[in-house]
Amino acid sequence: MISMKEMIKNWLLLLSLGCLMQGCSRSDQPALQDTFAAAQQQYRHLSEQADSLQKFPRTIDAQGQLTGTNEWDWTGGFFPGSLWFIYNQTRNEQTKSEAIKWTEKLEAAKDLDQHHDIGFVMYCSYGNAIKYLDDPAKIQAYKAIILHSANTALKRYDSKVGLIKSWNRKKAWDGTTVWQYPVIIDNMMNLEMLCYASDISGDPKYREVAISHANKTMENHFRADYSTYHVVDYDSTGTAIHQQTNQGYADNSTWARGQAWAIYGFTMMYRETKDPKYLQTAKKAAEYYVNQKNLPEDKIPWWDFNVGQQGYASDVDFSGRGLTEQPRDASAAAITASALIELSGFCSANESEIFLNFAKASLKTLSSPAYTAPLGENGGFILMHSTGSLPHDSEVDVPLIYADYYYLEALSRLKTLN
Ligand code: GLY
Repeated sequence: MISMKEMIKNWLLLLSLGCLMQGCSRSDQPALQDTFAAAQQQYRHLSEQADSLQKFPRTIDAQGQLTGTNEWDWTGGFFPGSLWFIYNQTRNEQTKSEAIKWTEKLEAAKDLDQHHDIGFVMYCSYGNAIKYLDDPAKIQAYKAIILHSANTALKRYDSKVGLIKSWNRKKAWDGTTVWQYPVIIDNMMNLEMLCYASDISGDPKYREVAISHANKTMENHFRADYSTYHVVDYDSTGTAIHQQTNQGYADNSTWARGQAWAIYGFTMMYRETKDPKYLQTAKKAAEYYVNQKNLPEDKIPWWDFNVGQQGYASDVDFSGRGLTEQPRDASAAAITASALIELSGFCSANESEIFLNFAKASLKTLSSPAYTAPLGENGGFILMHSTGSLPHDSEVDVPLIYADYYYLEALSRLKTLN
């Protein structure tokens, strides 16, 4: 049962976000503080449950109970990362202790080499800790952990192929194709840690791998209209041999979160290298997303842009799922909003306005009661209505820790911009 005090807080939160998204600047700084204060309260609830579960929060089950992961999953870094974003705005000591505790619980993952996600895991946690913690001894130790993690990431890089392998051998939905060297668009997100490893070590090899990976992703993951394939499989010489999907609707469709990773990944690679071809790619991928005809008015995408459309045939049978409407993916909206805010800083005034307005409109929807849960509910997560993987019938229309992470990052970026 939600108390009157919490109802008032929720109402103030929504009021402040409404103001923020309409583009108020200096005057909404105190209002945005209320947003992070509410997030802090919600995450206190999440932290308590995570402590009893002794797992990294990921989502909730059908009974509304928290479910979590150990450090070997791809999502462990998002909980400490979200705590760092909150701490950076509130300077609350308890949040800081929680952020340190959950960051340091991930240390063993510096050897995570069974999939490509070590960048997500270690950079969203330790990377943000380095940014926001004022403790030279810890920062030095954390940098060593990041460097170790970057070396682990390179174990999945084959210079003949020129990319980091995302997954080990895996069967496609068509039931016959077996991917040997699958690379997914999500993998762009692991490159930020490599660029940072070069910065702190002075060794260019990490950034060179990131650049090679981004270049080949540009060549093979994009269609002519800058929509993206989810999975590209390579042979041992680095030739792309399959362009398919794993979490999207069809091989030729555009999985909404995949497009979000592409916008974010190429914006980040432009920031890190200043290579104009990455900026061009980020802008084109962003234009595809913001001009998407099949995007609901409120800017929160369906989980895939092409479900059921003519010319798109899925290898997955969705008929027994009882879906009356396609689920949305709030996580894709949050990732895209965060990416567009950064991208808007690299564009002409006209483009910048388009991208920033789109991001603000998305954040306004995400901050409304349609997507932001009342305090104390939703298992302690902030956002509702994300979709993990519909083809796998997994995490459909639920809160997801990474939706919260990119939402908090987007709000932090917007505050910096203001
Ligand atoms: N592989 C990360 C995702 O599901 O988006």
